[in-house]
Amino acid sequence: MDLNHITKEIMIDEVSLLNKVKELGEKITRDYADKDLLLVCVLNGAVMFMADLMKSIKLNVEIDFMAVSSYGLSTKSSGVVKIIKDLDKTVEGKHILIVEDIIDSGLTLAYLIENLKSRGPESVEICTLLNKPSGRKTDVPTKYVGFDIKNEFVVGYGLDYAEKYRNVPYIFVLKEEVYS
Ligand code: IMP
Ligand code: MG
Repeated sequence: MDLNHITKEIMIDEVSLLNKVKELGEKITRDYADKDLLLVCVLNGAVMFMADLMKSIKLNVEIDFMAVSSYGLSTKSSGVVKIIKDLDKTVEGKHILIVEDIIDSGLTLAYLIENLKSRGPESVEICTLLNKPSGRKTDVPTKYVGFDIKNEFVVGYGLDYAEKYRNVPYIFVLKEEVYS
């Protein structure tokens, strides 16, 4: 798989990613000591981040997975979210940490937070690897952020374009010609 000819820029290399993920894991370990922590991975984009992050959290955590999609015909995030796959576990009495790949408008997570809060957990917080502050349409409290990035479409490390490039171990920007 030669990606050179379609790469505009390597934004975050593998070593920088893994160092940051380890740092986040250590913070989470300190913050949630003696608490019942449930890591909720938002499929599919957060799967690589989740796998690396949980290795750096030195606590007895539980993990679960959710899949969501924007509801309706619009290609833009509408804020109306359809749950494609729900949690298998109950959340009462647990501290939920949503593990997400990227926050852009914030609409998806704003919905998810309210949805999870209504189930009676002890707390709900967000850990996102990437954050695009300039895309924000609604305020979402993000307790843990890996990297603030500029408003560019990025792929790799779980993130896709048309379901491709999720398996690339670093974050990069595609050349414009790939989209046309
Ligand atoms: P929003 O915060 O509701 O606008 O939507 C965030 C979701 O859009 C993320 O979970 C990703 O699935 C997707 N997304 C937003 N920006 C990017 C990007 O740069 N690359 C890949 N997926 C993205
Ligand atoms: Mg996502």
